Amino acid sequence: MTDLSAAHAAAVTDRNRLVGSAYNGDRDLAARQSLYRWQTPRYDLPGIVAGQLREVRGRGWVVDVGCGNGKFLRQLRRNRPDLTVLGLDIAPGILAGVPGPLAVADADRLPLATASADAALALHMLYHVPDIARAVGELSRVVTRDGLVVASTNSDSDKAELDDLWQRAAGDVLGIERGPARISLSARFSLEKAPVFLEEVFGRVETIELPGTITVRDPEPVIAHMSSYRAWADQHDVPFDATIERARAILIDHIARNGAFEVNCLGGILVCRR
Ligand SMILES: C[S@@+](CC[C@H](N)C(=O)[O-])C[C@H]1O[C@@H](n2cnc3c(N)ncnc32)[C@H](O)[C@@H]1O
Repeated sequence: MTDLSAAHAAAVTDRNRLVGSAYNGDRDLAARQSLYRWQTPRYDLPGIVAGQLREVRGRGWVVDVGCGNGKFLRQLRRNRPDLTVLGLDIAPGILAGVPGPLAVADADRLPLATASADAALALHMLYHVPDIARAVGELSRVVTRDGLVVASTNSDSDKAELDDLWQRAAGDVLGIERGPARISLSARFSLEKAPVFLEEVFGRVETIELPGTITVRDPEPVIAHMSSYRAWADQHDVPFDATIERARAILIDHIARNGAFEVNCLGGILVCRR
């Protein structure tokens, strides 16, 4: 889905929804992260990000903006105990249980001095920020002259099979051929759109694509992923739970006939330097 209605864009960036519902704990984020267990090839995404930071020398400072449940931050601290990694997020609820140093902060206005960090991470989060250009400006402001910014997101074509499954299930619930498209979280800052924002500020932006295929023989990991959009249930013009139930039935039938259900993924990271 590449066309995002204004209502969807407002809902994806709505601070109350993000803090109070979508990321008030890590259940939904963890469901989305764990679907990749069934992906081939499997990428060690935190390891790939850590590898990009090899040029950051010991005792350097790294800030992980929108760190969520700390998936990246924990591994980075393990791989690079010589670095200080600060986690920031607007949602206090998702930070519960994440080891410090941490702070509740908005990417729009980072509570950091200019040129105070050797690297900044903004992983799968810039699509939630209302003013993306401003947040990119903040990331640039807080890193040193030769520092780097690493962002990540998904392609517009990522997991198209799940979008299709949703529309089939929603159509069945509504008694029509195909129901309305589900909300896309990453559409505002997809892998295709991200370079446009980042090249406004950075001289060099390298995109590293990470394609893969998820293969499941049990519907539940896919159902958990689809259900993780529950914070945006009201954006779907179709009863959310009934659509999830119908998707489960379609998946059970598909797996019985074909042995598995496949989902093509395309995510990537963008490494930005001045
Ligand atoms: C999809 S999660 C990604 C978490 C983590 N970076 C990862 O890749 O696993 C998006 C995170 O960004 C946070 N977030 C959204 N808007 C933000 C903002 N304006 N400033 C800081 N964090 C924000 C959310 O609370 C959430 O934890």
